[in-house]
Amino acid sequence: MKAVVYEKPFSVTVKTVPEPKILHPNDAIVKVTTTCICGSDLHMYEGRTAAEPGIIFGHENMGIVTEIGAGVSRLKVGDRVVMPFNVGCGHCRNCEAGYTAFCTEVNPGFAGGAYGYVAMGPYPGGQAQYLRVPWADFNALSLPPGTEHEADFALLADIFPTGWHGVSLSGFQPGESIAIFGGGPVGLMAAYSAILRGASEVYSIDRVPERLAKAQSIGAIPINFDKADAVEQILQLRHGEMVDRAVDAVGYQAVSGGKEVPNTVLVSMVRVVRATGGIGVPGLYVPSDPGGVDPHAKEGYLMFPFGKFFEKGLSIGTGQCNVKHYNRQLRDMIIAGRATPSFVVSHEIRIDEAPAAYEKFDKRIEGYTKVLIHPNA
Ligand SMILES: NC(=O)c1ccc[n+]([C@@H]2O[C@H](COP(=O)([O-])OP(=O)(O)OC[C@H]3O[C@@H](n4cnc5c(N)ncnc54)[C@H](O)[C@@H]3O)[C@@H](O)[C@H]2O)c1
Ligand SMILES: [Zn+2]
Ligand SMILES: [Zn+2]
Repeated sequence: MKAVVYEKPFSVTVKTVPEPKILHPNDAIVKVTTTCICGSDLHMYEGRTAAEPGIIFGHENMGIVTEIGAGVSRLKVGDRVVMPFNVGCGHCRNCEAGYTAFCTEVNPGFAGGAYGYVAMGPYPGGQAQYLRVPWADFNALSLPPGTEHEADFALLADIFPTGWHGVSLSGFQPGESIAIFGGGPVGLMAAYSAILRGASEVYSIDRVPERLAKAQSIGAIPINFDKADAVEQILQLRHGEMVDRAVDAVGYQAVSGGKEVPNTVLVSMVRVVRATGGIGVPGLYVPSDPGGVDPHAKEGYLMFPFGKFFEKGLSIGTGQCNVKHYNRQLRDMIIAGRATPSFVVSHEIRIDEAPAAYEKFDKRIEGYTKVLIHPNA
């Protein structure tokens, strides 16, 4: 089968690799109908992780079940499913408590597993024609048969739940104002989630014109941080009033003044949130970054204004999204016509077009906001 394989920094190729097989009675094999390229893939693509050549990318996967192991009882061949990017076992302490992003069983020595991701366990990605889904009864979310809402459902694997999670991590309540740093797919989903959840005002901060335009199209207030300090712009629009909540949908590769400044968004959030407000951080930070800007950043130590943070009595929530905690409800909002997250999708491609799409998405040019790959088209 064909698969998108990491070759070296700034290069992926489409290779022919063996099809996955059932390795355990709880496995299922899924023929991938849609898989997405994620901003998280770019950290590996840019060589900013320990990812080794040969890894098959792809943690945002949906498709049709083609084969099930002897221990699979809920799923049937022919079922249409979407998989959380997390791989969970379903029975460890964290999975039982709903923290499936921190499963202690699927990736020994580490809390959390995922498909196609460095350090996240032996689970090849789904930017390929077929995918092996471990603990399939637990991990696969069933979808209505057919092809309706394909793009919306594909976003249930990661970015729609992750955006929603970022808003939850901030402690958001209906009626509050919120500043979302990052207008990439995750940031746009956070802005969209805040609007669906009754935010009074949503500020969407980025510098990519197409992304700011998408934010504006759903009712967020676009703020271009290249024009002037984002916090100053927000405070000016609000006559000096801070916002209730902020979300970091950027992560450790944040930029400021044209160069990488890993703590810039964390600092801005402490400045822009009112006393006793909250901060949600779904954006990725890592404990080891070989390409970090200084010796501290290389070990994941970032300067954080803890004094101001304490003085204001702020709270902060972080971490990978427990997709299973949200995906069922969000699926039902899509089916009911209450949510259409696919407004974020800019390109739908065949698998052979993936290398070029990675390059353009990485450069955030030509409107590449969210790319969906159809590997069997
Ligand atoms: N917690 C999770 O479970 C989870 C899941 C998916 C993605 N992520 C992470 O979320 C982050 C965003 O993902 P994405 O797919 O949207 O990525 P992306 O790279 O497409 O988007 C990031 C955006 O941030 C903007 N940006 C850079 N510096 C900024 C600044 N100082 N202020 C405001 N915006 C700034 C960039 O222009 C870009 O548009 C990544 O770090 C990704 O790894 C986390
Ligand atoms: Zn993702
Ligand atoms: Zn578990």
